[in-house]
Amino acid sequence: MSRKWIIAIDGPAASGKGTLARRLSEHIGVPYLDTGLLYRAVARDVLARGENLEDVAASVVAAKAIDAGTLGDLALRGPLAGDAASIIAKIPEVRAALLDYQRDFARAAERGAILDGRDIGTVVCPDAHIKIFVTASDEARARRRHLEHQGRGEPIPYERVLEDLRRRDARDSNRSIAPLEVAADALLIDTTELDPDQAFGVVLDLIEKRMQK
Ligand code: DC
Repeated sequence: MSRKWIIAIDGPAASGKGTLARRLSEHIGVPYLDTGLLYRAVARDVLARGENLEDVAASVVAAKAIDAGTLGDLALRGPLAGDAASIIAKIPEVRAALLDYQRDFARAAERGAILDGRDIGTVVCPDAHIKIFVTASDEARARRRHLEHQGRGEPIPYERVLEDLRRRDARDSNRSIAPLEVAADALLIDTTELDPDQAFGVVLDLIEKRMQK
């Protein structure tokens, strides 16, 4: 990779975009930012201070004080953190406060960067060289999440996982600011019938073709 490539990956929860982004980042050798973790961390910090997730002032304070060193916190990975993140992500001032962090990350990366989230191709990096929108059926995504929960010994019924995913998708897609949507120039990949290796192969192929242009 000779020039600086920014790769934007968006999609709904459990679409497989995180796994793809991580593998691409290792393969191409550029840094990766999971932007969902930023929203998860803000929600965690608001709740830890005993504040309400809908409290704009408290949420903005937490967003401005975000500490990148805490993004590895395992507590950020679970479904409760994801739901709390989706609630806080509706607040325009929170999104604005996190925008600089995300753009700085993309700008600072010398050889390129991969960011994944909901609004990377549309808002955070509208000039990204490659935009990928990863999707999969609701049921396939719920099955994956359910298996992950089982692997961690969390007994959450499949029906409940499916319901939670649909509620979160609806919130992320219907909010008034930076909703989850496909960028006009995004490459679309449906991972419903693909395992992680197949999805990686398809995306790598798309990217290599785009880079040769
Ligand atoms: O990708 P994730 O599941 O970790 O994201 C958690 C929530 O954060 C998601 O439901 C909505 C919000 N989010 C967002 O609004 N914009 C992003 N770029 C990333 C995440």
